Amino acid sequence: MDTLAGKRVILGVCGSIAAYKVAQLARDLTLAGARVDVIMTKAAEQFVGAATFQALTGRPVLTDMWTLPEDGVVGHVSLGMQADVVVIAPATANTIARLAAGLCDDLLTTTVLATRAPLLIAPAMNPAMYDHPATQANIATLRARGACVLEPEFGRMAEPLVGRGRLPEPADLLAEIRALLGRHNGPLRGRHVVVTAGGTREPIDPVRYLGNRSSGQMGYALAARARDLGATVTLISGPTALTPPRAVHVVAVETALDMRAAVQAACAQADILIMNAAVADFRPAQPSTEKIKKQADEGLTIQLVQNPDVVGELAHRNDLFKVGFAAETRDLLANARSKLQRKGLHLIVANDAVASIGQAEIALVVLDGEQAIELPRQSKETAAAMLLDLIVERFEQWLPGRQPSARENGDR
Ligand code: CTP
Repeated sequence: MDTLAGKRVILGVCGSIAAYKVAQLARDLTLAGARVDVIMTKAAEQFVGAATFQALTGRPVLTDMWTLPEDGVVGHVSLGMQADVVVIAPATANTIARLAAGLCDDLLTTTVLATRAPLLIAPAMNPAMYDHPATQANIATLRARGACVLEPEFGRMAEPLVGRGRLPEPADLLAEIRALLGRHNGPLRGRHVVVTAGGTREPIDPVRYLGNRSSGQMGYALAARARDLGATVTLISGPTALTPPRAVHVVAVETALDMRAAVQAACAQADILIMNAAVADFRPAQPSTEKIKKQADEGLTIQLVQNPDVVGELAHRNDLFKVGFAAETRDLLANARSKLQRKGLHLIVANDAVASIGQAEIALVVLDGEQAIELPRQSKETAAAMLLDLIVERFEQWLPGRQPSARENGDR
Protein backbone atom coordinates (compact mmCIF):
# COMPACT_ATOMS: atom_id res chain seq x y z
CA MET A 1 0.00 0.00 0.00
CA ASP A 2 2.98 2.32 0.53
CA THR A 3 3.52 4.24 -2.71
CA LEU A 4 7.29 3.67 -2.31
CA ALA A 5 7.01 -0.11 -2.12
CA GLY A 6 9.01 -1.76 -4.89
CA LYS A 7 10.23 1.56 -6.30
CA ARG A 8 13.83 1.80 -7.48
CA VAL A 9 15.42 4.87 -5.96
CA ILE A 10 18.88 6.16 -6.76
CA LEU A 11 20.16 8.30 -3.92
CA GLY A 12 23.11 10.48 -4.95
CA VAL A 13 25.06 11.81 -1.98
CA CYS A 14 27.52 14.71 -2.42
CA GLY A 15 30.23 16.17 -0.20
CA SER A 16 28.42 18.35 2.31
CA ILE A 17 28.20 18.12 6.06
CA ALA A 18 24.46 17.53 5.59
CA ALA A 19 25.32 14.05 4.19
CA TYR A 20 24.82 12.62 7.69
CA LYS A 21 21.08 13.44 7.52
CA VAL A 22 20.70 11.38 4.38
CA ALA A 23 21.64 8.19 6.21
CA GLN A 24 18.24 8.48 7.91
CA LEU A 25 16.58 9.08 4.53
CA ALA A 26 18.23 5.94 3.10
CA ARG A 27 16.83 3.98 6.05
CA ASP A 28 13.33 5.46 5.75
CA LEU A 29 13.18 4.74 2.02
CA THR A 30 14.33 1.15 2.58
CA LEU A 31 11.80 0.61 5.38
CA ALA A 32 9.06 1.94 3.07
CA GLY A 33 9.90 -0.92 0.70
CA ALA A 34 12.01 0.92 -1.90
CA ARG A 35 15.18 -0.56 -3.42
CA VAL A 36 17.77 2.10 -2.68
CA ASP A 37 21.04 2.33 -4.60
CA VAL A 38 23.33 4.92 -3.07
CA ILE A 39 25.90 6.63 -5.28
CA MET A 40 28.48 8.70 -3.41
CA THR A 41 30.70 11.32 -4.98
CA LYS A 42 34.39 11.32 -4.04
CA ALA A 43 33.81 14.32 -1.75
CA ALA A 44 30.87 12.60 -0.02
CA GLU A 45 33.22 9.88 1.22
CA GLN A 46 35.01 12.54 3.28
CA PHE A 47 31.83 13.06 5.30
CA VAL A 48 30.09 9.65 5.67
CA GLY A 49 31.37 6.12 5.18
CA ALA A 50 29.97 3.91 2.43
CA ALA A 51 29.55 1.18 5.07
CA THR A 52 26.82 3.26 6.74
CA PHE A 53 24.68 3.37 3.61
CA GLN A 54 25.44 -0.24 2.77
CA ALA A 55 24.20 -1.37 6.19
CA LEU A 56 21.07 0.80 5.99
CA THR A 57 20.03 -0.16 2.45
CA GLY A 58 21.31 -3.74 2.39
CA ARG A 59 22.82 -3.01 -1.03
CA PRO A 60 26.32 -2.27 -2.30
CA VAL A 61 27.17 1.42 -2.33
CA LEU A 62 28.49 2.76 -5.61
CA THR A 63 31.41 5.14 -5.47
CA ASP A 64 33.31 4.65 -8.69
CA MET A 65 32.37 4.27 -12.34
CA TRP A 66 35.11 1.69 -12.93
CA THR A 67 34.56 -0.67 -9.99
CA LEU A 68 30.86 -1.53 -10.16
CA PRO A 69 29.47 -4.68 -8.50
CA GLU A 70 29.75 -7.69 -10.79
CA ASP A 71 26.13 -8.86 -10.71
CA GLY A 72 25.70 -7.74 -14.29
CA VAL A 73 22.60 -5.74 -13.34
CA VAL A 74 24.35 -2.57 -12.37
CA GLY A 75 26.14 -0.86 -15.20
CA HIS A 76 27.09 2.81 -15.24
CA VAL A 77 24.25 3.54 -17.69
CA SER A 78 21.76 0.78 -16.86
CA LEU A 79 21.48 1.99 -13.26
CA GLY A 80 19.89 5.26 -14.40
CA MET A 81 17.74 3.51 -16.99
CA GLN A 82 16.17 1.21 -14.38
CA ALA A 83 15.40 3.93 -11.83
CA ASP A 84 11.92 5.16 -10.88
CA VAL A 85 13.35 8.31 -9.32
CA VAL A 86 16.80 9.87 -8.87
CA VAL A 87 17.35 11.91 -5.72
CA ILE A 88 20.44 14.01 -5.10
CA ALA A 89 20.72 15.01 -1.45
CA PRO A 90 22.65 16.90 -0.38
CA ALA A 91 23.48 18.46 -3.74
CA THR A 92 26.57 20.68 -3.63
CA ALA A 93 27.23 23.76 -5.78
CA ASN A 94 29.84 21.74 -7.65
CA THR A 95 27.53 18.83 -8.56
CA ILE A 96 24.72 21.24 -9.46
CA ALA A 97 27.14 23.04 -11.81
CA ARG A 98 28.29 19.74 -13.36
CA LEU A 99 24.67 18.65 -13.89
CA ALA A 100 23.71 21.99 -15.42
CA ALA A 101 26.69 21.72 -17.80
CA GLY A 102 25.60 18.18 -18.77
CA LEU A 103 28.91 16.68 -17.65
CA CYS A 104 29.29 12.95 -17.01
CA ASP A 105 32.63 12.84 -15.26
CA ASP A 106 31.65 10.51 -12.42
CA LEU A 107 29.06 7.79 -11.76
CA LEU A 108 26.44 10.18 -10.35
CA THR A 109 26.45 12.66 -13.24
CA THR A 110 26.61 9.81 -15.77
CA THR A 111 23.59 8.18 -14.16
CA VAL A 112 21.62 11.44 -14.26
CA LEU A 113 22.43 11.94 -17.92
CA ALA A 114 21.35 8.40 -18.76
CA THR A 115 18.06 8.41 -16.84
CA ARG A 116 14.58 9.41 -17.94
CA ALA A 117 13.28 9.09 -14.36
CA PRO A 118 12.17 12.22 -12.48
CA LEU A 119 15.02 14.04 -10.73
CA LEU A 120 14.81 15.57 -7.25
CA ILE A 121 17.66 17.82 -6.19
CA ALA A 122 18.03 19.04 -2.61
CA PRO A 123 20.81 21.66 -2.45
CA ALA A 124 22.70 22.18 0.81
CA MET A 125 25.64 24.53 1.04
CA ASN A 126 27.04 27.74 2.44
CA PRO A 127 24.38 30.49 1.98
CA ALA A 128 26.76 32.74 -0.01
CA MET A 129 27.48 29.88 -2.42
CA TYR A 130 23.76 29.16 -2.75
CA ASP A 131 22.91 32.81 -3.43
CA HIS A 132 25.72 33.22 -5.96
CA PRO A 133 24.37 34.08 -9.44
CA ALA A 134 26.31 31.13 -10.90
CA THR A 135 24.54 28.63 -8.61
CA GLN A 136 21.18 30.31 -9.11
CA ALA A 137 21.61 30.24 -12.90
CA ASN A 138 22.53 26.54 -12.75
CA ILE A 139 19.45 25.78 -10.65
CA ALA A 140 17.26 27.71 -13.11
CA THR A 141 18.74 25.63 -15.95
CA LEU A 142 17.99 22.37 -14.14
CA ARG A 143 14.43 23.47 -13.34
CA ALA A 144 13.86 24.49 -16.96
CA ARG A 145 14.86 20.94 -17.91
CA GLY A 146 12.21 19.54 -15.60
CA ALA A 147 14.20 18.79 -12.44
CA CYS A 148 12.46 19.40 -9.12
CA VAL A 149 14.94 21.52 -7.12
CA LEU A 150 13.99 22.07 -3.48
CA GLU A 151 14.58 25.34 -1.71
CA PRO A 152 17.11 24.83 1.12
CA GLU A 153 15.94 25.83 4.57
CA PHE A 154 16.86 28.88 6.57
CA GLY A 155 18.63 28.30 9.87
CA ARG A 156 21.85 27.64 11.70
CA MET A 157 24.60 26.24 9.48
CA ALA A 158 27.51 24.00 10.54
CA GLU A 159 29.78 27.04 10.49
CA PRO A 160 28.79 29.64 13.09
CA LEU A 161 26.41 31.46 10.78
CA VAL A 162 22.72 31.60 10.02
CA GLY A 163 21.30 31.62 6.50
CA ARG A 164 19.52 29.77 3.71
CA GLY A 165 21.43 26.62 2.88
CA ARG A 166 20.27 23.82 5.19
CA LEU A 167 19.08 20.47 3.89
CA PRO A 168 15.40 19.79 4.72
CA GLU A 169 14.82 17.12 7.36
CA PRO A 170 14.70 13.45 6.19
CA ALA A 171 10.92 13.19 6.74
CA ASP A 172 10.40 16.23 4.49
CA LEU A 173 12.68 14.80 1.80
CA LEU A 174 10.74 11.54 1.98
CA ALA A 175 7.46 13.43 1.47
CA GLU A 176 8.92 15.30 -1.52
CA ILE A 177 10.08 12.01 -3.08
CA ARG A 178 6.61 10.50 -2.65
CA ALA A 179 5.02 13.63 -4.14
CA LEU A 180 7.34 13.60 -7.16
CA LEU A 181 6.74 9.90 -7.84
CA GLY A 182 2.98 10.51 -7.59
CA ARG A 183 3.07 13.49 -9.99
CA HIS A 184 5.03 11.33 -12.41
CA ASN A 185 2.72 8.35 -12.60
CA GLY A 186 0.25 8.21 -9.68
CA PRO A 187 -3.45 7.57 -10.39
CA LEU A 188 -4.38 11.18 -9.47
CA ARG A 189 -1.69 12.90 -11.58
CA GLY A 190 -3.11 15.97 -13.26
CA ARG A 191 -6.06 16.07 -10.83
CA HIS A 192 -6.85 18.79 -8.30
CA VAL A 193 -8.09 17.54 -4.93
CA VAL A 194 -9.47 19.86 -2.25
CA VAL A 195 -9.44 18.55 1.32
CA THR A 196 -10.92 20.40 4.29
CA ALA A 197 -9.74 19.56 7.80
CA GLY A 198 -10.00 20.59 11.43
CA GLY A 199 -12.79 22.45 13.16
CA THR A 200 -13.93 26.02 12.62
CA ARG A 201 -13.91 28.65 15.37
CA GLU A 202 -16.83 31.04 15.64
CA PRO A 203 -15.94 34.20 17.58
CA ILE A 204 -17.97 35.20 20.63
CA ASP A 205 -15.77 38.16 21.42
CA PRO A 206 -12.10 39.04 20.66
CA VAL A 207 -10.79 36.33 23.04
CA ARG A 208 -13.45 33.59 23.02
CA TYR A 209 -14.91 31.30 20.39
CA LEU A 210 -17.27 28.38 19.85
CA GLY A 211 -15.29 25.41 18.63
CA ASN A 212 -15.22 21.61 18.54
CA ARG A 213 -12.83 18.75 19.26
CA SER A 214 -11.72 17.96 15.70
CA SER A 215 -7.92 17.46 15.61
CA GLY A 216 -7.57 17.61 11.82
CA GLN A 217 -5.48 14.42 11.83
CA MET A 218 -7.67 12.52 9.37
CA GLY A 219 -7.91 15.42 6.90
CA TYR A 220 -4.14 16.02 6.98
CA ALA A 221 -3.46 12.32 6.35
CA LEU A 222 -5.96 12.34 3.44
CA ALA A 223 -4.25 15.38 1.93
CA ALA A 224 -0.82 13.70 2.17
CA ARG A 225 -2.13 10.52 0.56
CA ALA A 226 -3.81 12.44 -2.29
CA ARG A 227 -0.46 14.16 -2.89
CA ASP A 228 1.34 10.78 -2.93
CA LEU A 229 -1.11 9.53 -5.55
CA GLY A 230 -0.14 12.47 -7.76
CA ALA A 231 -2.82 15.12 -7.14
CA THR A 232 -2.29 18.83 -6.76
CA VAL A 233 -3.74 19.26 -3.29
CA THR A 234 -5.34 22.26 -1.61
CA LEU A 235 -5.76 21.67 2.12
CA ILE A 236 -8.22 24.12 3.67
CA SER A 237 -7.69 23.90 7.39
CA GLY A 238 -9.24 25.28 10.51
CA PRO A 239 -6.77 25.92 13.37
CA THR A 240 -4.97 22.69 14.41
CA ALA A 241 -1.81 21.74 16.30
CA LEU A 242 -0.51 19.77 13.29
CA THR A 243 2.39 20.47 10.93
CA PRO A 244 0.96 20.78 7.41
CA PRO A 245 2.11 18.12 4.93
CA ARG A 246 4.88 19.09 2.49
CA ALA A 247 4.13 19.79 -1.16
CA VAL A 248 0.50 20.64 -0.42
CA HIS A 249 -1.07 24.10 -0.80
CA VAL A 250 -2.46 25.07 2.60
CA VAL A 251 -5.19 27.68 3.09
CA ALA A 252 -5.67 28.55 6.77
CA VAL A 253 -9.19 29.55 7.78
CA GLU A 254 -10.91 30.25 11.06
CA THR A 255 -14.69 30.48 10.70
CA ALA A 256 -17.31 28.57 8.71
CA LEU A 257 -17.81 31.63 6.50
CA ASP A 258 -14.03 31.75 5.79
CA MET A 259 -14.15 28.04 4.98
CA ARG A 260 -17.09 28.48 2.62
CA ALA A 261 -15.22 31.23 0.69
CA ALA A 262 -12.01 29.16 0.50
CA VAL A 263 -13.87 25.99 -0.61
CA GLN A 264 -15.79 27.86 -3.30
CA ALA A 265 -12.58 29.46 -4.63
CA ALA A 266 -10.58 26.20 -4.62
CA CYS A 267 -13.41 24.10 -6.08
CA ALA A 268 -13.77 26.34 -9.12
CA GLN A 269 -10.96 24.26 -10.68
CA ALA A 270 -11.14 21.01 -8.69
CA ASP A 271 -11.93 17.40 -9.56
CA ILE A 272 -12.55 16.03 -6.05
CA LEU A 273 -13.72 17.67 -2.81
CA ILE A 274 -13.14 15.76 0.44
CA MET A 275 -15.10 17.64 3.07
CA ASN A 276 -13.55 16.33 6.28
CA ALA A 277 -13.75 19.56 8.31
CA ALA A 278 -16.00 19.80 11.34
CA VAL A 279 -17.80 22.96 10.29
CA ALA A 280 -19.69 24.68 13.10
CA ASP A 281 -23.42 24.62 12.37
CA PHE A 282 -24.03 27.84 14.30
CA ARG A 283 -22.19 31.09 14.98
CA PRO A 284 -22.89 33.92 17.44
CA ALA A 285 -25.26 36.33 15.70
CA GLN A 286 -23.31 39.37 16.79
CA PRO A 287 -19.82 38.76 18.12
CA SER A 288 -18.91 41.42 20.64
CA THR A 289 -16.10 43.77 19.62
CA GLU A 290 -15.09 44.08 23.30
CA LYS A 291 -14.37 41.28 25.75
CA ILE A 292 -17.68 40.33 27.40
CA LYS A 293 -17.66 41.12 31.14
CA LYS A 294 -19.51 39.28 33.89
CA GLN A 295 -22.70 41.06 35.02
CA ALA A 296 -23.25 40.60 38.77
CA ASP A 297 -24.70 37.08 39.29
CA GLU A 298 -26.26 36.82 35.87
CA GLY A 299 -25.57 34.15 33.29
CA LEU A 300 -25.06 34.86 29.63
CA THR A 301 -27.26 34.11 26.66
CA ILE A 302 -25.66 34.11 23.23
CA GLN A 303 -27.92 34.29 20.22
CA LEU A 304 -26.74 31.89 17.48
CA VAL A 305 -27.54 31.88 13.78
CA GLN A 306 -27.09 28.99 11.37
CA ASN A 307 -23.98 28.76 9.21
CA PRO A 308 -24.29 27.90 5.53
CA ASP A 309 -23.91 24.24 4.59
CA VAL A 310 -20.59 24.49 2.74
CA VAL A 311 -20.73 21.20 0.86
CA GLY A 312 -24.54 21.27 0.56
CA GLU A 313 -24.28 24.52 -1.40
CA LEU A 314 -22.25 22.66 -4.03
CA ALA A 315 -24.98 20.02 -4.56
CA HIS A 316 -25.54 21.35 -8.12
CA ARG A 317 -21.88 20.76 -9.09
CA ASN A 318 -22.18 17.62 -11.19
CA ASP A 319 -18.63 18.08 -12.45
CA LEU A 320 -17.14 17.69 -8.95
CA PHE A 321 -16.78 14.36 -7.09
CA LYS A 322 -17.84 15.11 -3.52
CA VAL A 323 -17.09 13.13 -0.39
CA GLY A 324 -18.59 14.09 2.97
CA PHE A 325 -18.18 12.82 6.52
CA ALA A 326 -20.71 12.05 9.21
CA ALA A 327 -19.51 11.72 12.80
CA GLU A 328 -22.57 10.59 14.71
CA THR A 329 -23.38 9.66 18.27
CA ARG A 330 -26.44 7.52 17.32
CA ASP A 331 -28.23 6.02 14.28
CA LEU A 332 -24.94 6.14 12.40
CA LEU A 333 -25.96 4.63 9.07
CA ALA A 334 -29.44 6.20 8.86
CA ASN A 335 -28.08 9.68 9.63
CA ALA A 336 -25.19 9.27 7.21
CA ARG A 337 -27.48 8.08 4.40
CA SER A 338 -29.79 11.03 4.85
CA LYS A 339 -26.81 13.45 4.67
CA LEU A 340 -25.51 11.70 1.55
CA GLN A 341 -28.77 12.50 -0.23
CA ARG A 342 -29.50 15.90 1.32
CA LYS A 343 -26.04 17.25 0.46
CA GLY A 344 -25.78 15.71 -3.03
CA LEU A 345 -22.64 13.72 -2.16
CA HIS A 346 -21.14 10.84 -4.11
CA LEU A 347 -19.77 9.14 -0.98
CA ILE A 348 -20.16 9.67 2.74
CA VAL A 349 -17.78 8.37 5.38
CA ALA A 350 -19.48 7.57 8.65
CA ASN A 351 -17.90 7.02 12.04
CA ASP A 352 -18.88 6.86 15.67
CA ALA A 353 -17.94 10.30 17.01
CA VAL A 354 -17.43 9.19 20.62
CA ALA A 355 -15.22 6.21 19.71
CA SER A 356 -12.90 8.25 17.49
CA ILE A 357 -12.52 11.76 18.90
CA GLY A 358 -9.07 12.21 20.40
CA GLN A 359 -8.21 8.54 19.64
CA ALA A 360 -5.28 7.34 17.53
CA GLU A 361 -7.48 4.75 15.79
CA ILE A 362 -10.73 4.92 13.85
CA ALA A 363 -13.28 2.53 12.28
CA LEU A 364 -15.12 3.82 9.19
CA VAL A 365 -18.13 2.88 7.09
CA VAL A 366 -18.20 4.30 3.55
CA LEU A 367 -21.64 4.64 1.96
CA ASP A 368 -22.69 5.33 -1.59
CA GLY A 369 -26.26 5.07 -2.90
CA GLU A 370 -26.52 1.33 -2.28
CA GLN A 371 -23.45 -0.14 -0.64
CA ALA A 372 -21.84 0.12 2.79
CA ILE A 373 -18.13 -0.71 2.91
CA GLU A 374 -16.59 -1.21 6.34
CA LEU A 375 -12.99 -0.24 7.01
CA PRO A 376 -11.78 -1.90 10.23
CA ARG A 377 -10.51 0.00 13.27
CA GLN A 378 -6.90 1.03 12.52
CA SER A 379 -4.56 4.01 12.83
CA LYS A 380 -5.92 7.22 11.29
CA GLU A 381 -3.00 7.26 8.78
CA THR A 382 -3.74 3.74 7.55
CA ALA A 383 -7.49 4.43 7.51
CA ALA A 384 -6.88 7.60 5.47
CA ALA A 385 -4.74 5.70 2.95
CA MET A 386 -7.38 2.96 2.52
CA LEU A 387 -10.15 5.52 2.31
CA LEU A 388 -8.37 7.55 -0.34
CA ASP A 389 -7.71 4.46 -2.44
CA LEU A 390 -11.44 3.73 -2.28
CA ILE A 391 -12.28 7.33 -3.24
CA VAL A 392 -9.95 7.07 -6.26
CA GLU A 393 -11.62 3.81 -7.34
CA ARG A 394 -15.10 5.37 -7.11
CA PHE A 395 -13.94 8.61 -8.76
CA GLU A 396 -12.62 6.62 -11.74
CA GLN A 397 -15.93 4.76 -12.05
CA TRP A 398 -17.82 8.08 -11.93
CA LEU A 399 -15.57 9.93 -14.42
CA PRO A 400 -17.02 8.66 -17.73
CA GLY A 401 -20.43 10.15 -16.86
CA ARG A 402 -19.03 13.39 -15.46
CA GLN A 403 -20.72 16.54 -16.67
CA PRO A 404 -18.40 19.14 -18.18
CA SER A 405 -17.67 21.98 -15.75
CA ALA A 406 -18.65 25.59 -16.43
CA ARG A 407 -14.96 26.20 -17.08
CA GLU A 408 -14.76 23.41 -19.67
CA ASN A 409 -17.95 24.63 -21.35
CA GLY A 410 -16.52 28.15 -21.45
CA ASP A 411 -13.29 26.86 -22.97
CA ARG A 412 -15.07 25.42 -25.97
N1 CTP B 1 -20.70 20.37 6.52
C1 CTP B 1 -20.61 21.50 5.74
N2 CTP B 1 -21.11 22.69 6.21
C2 CTP B 1 -21.70 22.75 7.42
C3 CTP B 1 -21.81 21.59 8.21
C4 CTP B 1 -21.29 20.41 7.73
O1 CTP B 1 -20.08 21.44 4.64
N3 CTP B 1 -22.17 23.92 7.83
C5 CTP B 1 -20.18 19.11 5.98
C6 CTP B 1 -19.15 18.42 6.86
O2 CTP B 1 -17.84 18.81 6.53
C7 CTP B 1 -19.38 16.95 6.56
C8 CTP B 1 -20.87 16.87 6.25
O3 CTP B 1 -21.27 18.21 5.88
O4 CTP B 1 -18.69 16.51 5.42
C9 CTP B 1 -21.72 16.40 7.40
O5 CTP B 1 -21.44 17.21 8.53
P1 CTP B 1 -22.28 17.07 9.87
O6 CTP B 1 -21.81 18.11 10.83
O7 CTP B 1 -22.24 15.64 10.31
O8 CTP B 1 -23.74 17.34 9.34
P2 CTP B 1 -24.74 18.54 9.57
O9 CTP B 1 -24.99 19.22 8.27
O10 CTP B 1 -24.26 19.38 10.68
O11 CTP B 1 -26.08 17.77 9.96
P3 CTP B 1 -26.68 17.50 11.44
O12 CTP B 1 -26.83 18.83 12.08
O13 CTP B 1 -27.97 16.82 11.13
O14 CTP B 1 -25.71 16.58 12.13
